[in-house]
Amino acid sequence: MIRIEHIGIAVKDLEKAEERYAKLLGTGSYKREEVASEGVLTSFFQVGPNKIELLESTRPDGTIAKAIEKRGEGMHHIAFEVDDIRVEMARLKAEGFTLLNEEPKRGADNKLVCFVHPKSANGVLVELCQEIK
Ligand code: CO
Repeated sequence: MIRIEHIGIAVKDLEKAEERYAKLLGTGSYKREEVASEGVLTSFFQVGPNKIELLESTRPDGTIAKAIEKRGEGMHHIAFEVDDIRVEMARLKAEGFTLLNEEPKRGADNKLVCFVHPKSANGVLVELCQEIK
């Protein structure tokens, strides 16, 4: 693991959340990107070496919609940047972690991603992400 790449926050209304986070962070969102396969619309903010990713569901049955239904808005996942996602996935699997996808998936912001089940990480949904070169 190289560093915390971003923190994902589930929001109901992306537009309003972007305004609020622009005020909070003192800088606006630098990009919006839809990940259609996941049913999310994302918006990214740069905070020093790290990012904040706001996530709004584009489907009533999407993972973000379900998370908000269960726990309300708020912290959704922590993403760690990795050098080689397949190596990290194999390492975590060997350590007994439950991965939510067997193969890396295409995520937002030019990344390959894999999620680790929150039950494996004391209630925290962990994302591994590797920059696509
Ligand atoms: Co993320």
